[in-house]
Amino acid sequence: MMRNAIAEHDAIALEPLLEKVYRGSGHDFRQYKRGTVIRRLERRLHATGVKTYWAYMKFLDAHPKEYQKLADDLTIKVSGFFRNPYTFQQVTRLVLPELVAYKRNRGERSLRFWSTACARGEEAYSIAIMLAQFLGHRLPDLDISIYATDISHQALKEAWAGVYAPKDVDGLPSAISEGYFTSSGEGYEVAADIKQMVSFSYFDLTSTTEPPFLNLDCIFCCNVLIYLQRTLQEKVLEMLYKSLAAPGYLVLGEVETPTSNLRGRLECLDSKAKIYRKNEGGNDV
Ligand SMILES: C[S@@+](CC[C@H](N)C(=O)[O-])C[C@H]1O[C@@H](n2cnc3c(N)ncnc32)[C@H](O)[C@@H]1O
Repeated sequence: MMRNAIAEHDAIALEPLLEKVYRGSGHDFRQYKRGTVIRRLERRLHATGVKTYWAYMKFLDAHPKEYQKLADDLTIKVSGFFRNPYTFQQVTRLVLPELVAYKRNRGERSLRFWSTACARGEEAYSIAIMLAQFLGHRLPDLDISIYATDISHQALKEAWAGVYAPKDVDGLPSAISEGYFTSSGEGYEVAADIKQMVSFSYFDLTSTTEPPFLNLDCIFCCNVLIYLQRTLQEKVLEMLYKSLAAPGYLVLGEVETPTSNLRGRLECLDSKAKIYRKNEGGNDV
């Protein structure tokens, strides 16, 4: 009974609270899906011993460091190396041969990838390992850039260090765990030649319609759209579309699909692996 009274009271306070978080910290969660936001806010209320959103707003004024703790809780950083193995298998089968042949035919050496919500770096390093495995001795023939961005400063710091617990690496095929990691203290460190392909930086996918990178060959945007409301998903995907070269490839998470604004502008190469292609010279597919 009491819980319902608080929930109703909080429902009215949710908008001003998210507005306050945006004004106070620059983190804009106003168009994130409400279910996740509410569940995560409950955790912060519990952790701070505060009973209502109104009281939590006062708590934020008195403890500005709480903004960062809330942002950390609202960003879910679950990831893994080769998280969806089928997707990586299909990128290797459908995207890489075509892309590398296209570059070779045009006498171009650059391959540019973007891991758009890279969490602790697992996805970006998986892309680098996938490229190293696919290219083999041809790897030095190409200039590879893998941009990896996220809004979690803590996750980016860990990504940059590239050191992982045994549980993160042990389940990988031995060709990967032994070939691309070295033992480091209690864990494993990503090999130096893999690390040097990846550059990490802060970027908020929802903050602008102008992409930070242009002419990208392949963008991974996995398991972040699911946290956003539909209109914000559309805005992010429109920005990513601008960022892609043509041909250029977009890879989404297992349960994510392009929003309707991109329908007809992307060709689906594999609906299960969620691989799409922006085609050269026109939008009709
Ligand atoms: C569940 S993880 C996904 C990690 C990886 N892409 C994967 O599929 O395993 C979601 C990531 O999205 C990041 N994120 C959330 N909102 C973001 C935004 N607006 N811009 C960039 N990254 C964001 C979180 O910090 C978190 O690291």
